[in-house]
Amino acid sequence: MRKTPAERRAFVLEQTQLAGVPLVPELRVYQARAVNAVWFETARWLERDDADVPFWCVPWAGGQALARYLLDHPELVRGARVLDFACGGGVVGIAAARVGARVCAVDIDPLARTATELAAEANGVTLEVTTRDVVGAPLPDVDVLLAGDVWYERAPAARFRRWFERLAGRGLTILTSDAGRHYAPRRARELARYEVPTPFDLEAAATRMTRVLAIEPPAPVPSHDDVPDPAPSCQNG
Ligand SMILES: C[S@@+](CC[C@H](N)C(=O)[O-])C[C@H]1O[C@@H](n2cnc3c(N)ncnc32)[C@H](O)[C@@H]1O
Repeated sequence: MRKTPAERRAFVLEQTQLAGVPLVPELRVYQARAVNAVWFETARWLERDDADVPFWCVPWAGGQALARYLLDHPELVRGARVLDFACGGGVVGIAAARVGARVCAVDIDPLARTATELAAEANGVTLEVTTRDVVGAPLPDVDVLLAGDVWYERAPAARFRRWFERLAGRGLTILTSDAGRHYAPRRARELARYEVPTPFDLEAAATRMTRVLAIEPPAPVPSHDDVPDPAPSCQNG
């Protein structure tokens, strides 16, 4: 069932508490006390049996690590036009805004938009947040794309990777993070690693080793001139 922005705000505030982010105590975002309970309530509230995991009520290990890295390396985004892709509860975009980036955030889940808007207000930063699927878009107005913890499902991960590599090939900086998910990109440069505190009921571990990664552009396709001559064959004489 469609909800108004005011109804979404009331729902997020009712279901979560504003709390410090374990690896990034400088920031606070709206977090579930128990994710399963919020999931159940979200499904009931939306009248949808197939409601997705409420990703927006958790600062995921990948998001925490990327936010930590940005706060510790502000020169990477200060003054830049930044897109926080798949913003969830907003921890990554808020970190970027905190160090002086101009940030847009995007997620396909309207509740993620609401949670990010509320968290931006609580942290005293301004973000423009939208709900849409921008995968494949050329993003001419973006210098840096940030994507925290997006490597957990095969088909979306493949889509994201192809798009990110294309954007990196056009000169965008693409920073992401991997908390040991299955579909993390291989063509990426590791910038840092952190042991990130995580809720045990979600991750079945008290911490997760999480890497911050820079996506590399695709390998150049060799031009005709680069193809070496075949090795001389001695077989016939
Ligand atoms: C595990 S959460 C990560 C949230 C946040 N980046 C963090 O690290 O805390 C993954 C997020 O990706 C979003 N997502 C999935 N597919 C998307 C797409 N095509 N475009 C934008 N967001 C997407 C989900 O709605 C969810 O909020």
